[in-house]
Amino acid sequence: MSEAVTESLTETPYFPMERDPRCPFDPPEGTKKLREINPVSRVEIWDGSKPWLITGLEAQKELLGDPRISVDEKLPGFPHWNEGMAANVGIRPKSVFNSDGEEHARFRRMMTRAFTVKRVKALRPFIQQTVDELIDAMVAGPKPADLVEKLALPVPSIVICQMLGVPYENHDFFQENSVQAVDRYATPEQNMQAFANMFMFMLEIVQKKMEDPADDVLSDFAGYARDGEIDAAEAAQMGLGMLIAGHETSANMIALGTLALLENPDQLEMIRDAEDDTVVADAVEELMRYLGIIHNGQRRIALEDIDISGQHIKAGDGVIIELSSSNWDPAAFPEPERLDITRSARLHTGFGFGPHQCIGQQLARAELQIVYSTLLKRLPDLAVAIPADRVEFKSDRLAYGVYSLPVTW
Ligand code: HEM
Repeated sequence: MSEAVTESLTETPYFPMERDPRCPFDPPEGTKKLREINPVSRVEIWDGSKPWLITGLEAQKELLGDPRISVDEKLPGFPHWNEGMAANVGIRPKSVFNSDGEEHARFRRMMTRAFTVKRVKALRPFIQQTVDELIDAMVAGPKPADLVEKLALPVPSIVICQMLGVPYENHDFFQENSVQAVDRYATPEQNMQAFANMFMFMLEIVQKKMEDPADDVLSDFAGYARDGEIDAAEAAQMGLGMLIAGHETSANMIALGTLALLENPDQLEMIRDAEDDTVVADAVEELMRYLGIIHNGQRRIALEDIDISGQHIKAGDGVIIELSSSNWDPAAFPEPERLDITRSARLHTGFGFGPHQCIGQQLARAELQIVYSTLLKRLPDLAVAIPADRVEFKSDRLAYGVYSLPVTW
């Protein structure tokens, strides 16, 4: 452990913590240390406030399922991710992300209706075709190629645009704005502008689909608005939430997962040579556990006093649930630092836990399974084209990943 971390543990440690650049897949040493000391500990964040950081799997599951824990970001004491998120809290309409209880259940029902088993199943051939075409285009172009640009980013963007009924031609616009929206160091103005740009664009499509619906998810949301179940702004916000949540995360998993497999050739071979789909399905669960791309903590606030792990969380205290460190909790996953696609990792919390658990997880699983198996089978000589220590990792974004990944084959 670095001296800085040891020193800071004598006071209240700062969160988020730095990862060790020599072990880019490991969660920060500081969160590991905190989990060993007490999985429910105080940290300090950007605004000087001291919310609780929850680093152990058991404590996390307990709190994520506890109705005394809220996602209401407007309550004083809520531990916002950065200044921009705090400053613009008033302009974000209600959605699944910031509502609790019955109100949350109502939004969530409308969204989960969009993810019918039939719709996700019907998307599989489309995902496969998209992946095949993108790999064809990559191999027809020059070597090395950037895997992020050629495959990791376009696959989930094309799929979510198709599902929502948003023209993919607008992906550059969304990409630029969503980068600002999830950048830790974006100013409040940049953050607000990015959200406003995307929101207005989405609202316009929703309004069109209220008049002229098609067979897509935004038309479903527009239908709820037309029937008065929600208003058009809430429908646009649901669509925007899905667009952002549905491509940044999967894109990071594709690129970082490929890198992790290239660095663990024995695990990669098992996926490449697999004839049984369950091998790839299990590998995706293990990569979700191992990579911990959701590394900035799920933000919550206590509505009532809660006693947990010998600590007393008071009503009004901020709570941050740090998923990447708990997926390396050795009590749940022995030898967590070992990427082992044969282990049983299905109980990981990479998609969250409790009432706010990821709505798009079946879609994300389908995308990851198809990408890893197709890429590794089609390009058996795939390799990173630069020295490992020159790969740049995204520590400044909501989700962890790589900015680019030059590969050759
Ligand atoms: C590998 C890819 C993905 C990862 C790692 C991921 C991770 C997560 C996590 C950890 C949460 C819980 C948030 C919380 O408790 O505060 C979540 C929620 C959510 N995710 Fe995902 N997600 C992924 C893909 C997707 C996709 C593809 C979609 C949609 C198309 C999606 C839509 C959502 C939505 C709408 C929520 C909010 C649910 C609620 O608050 O009730 N996600 N996701």
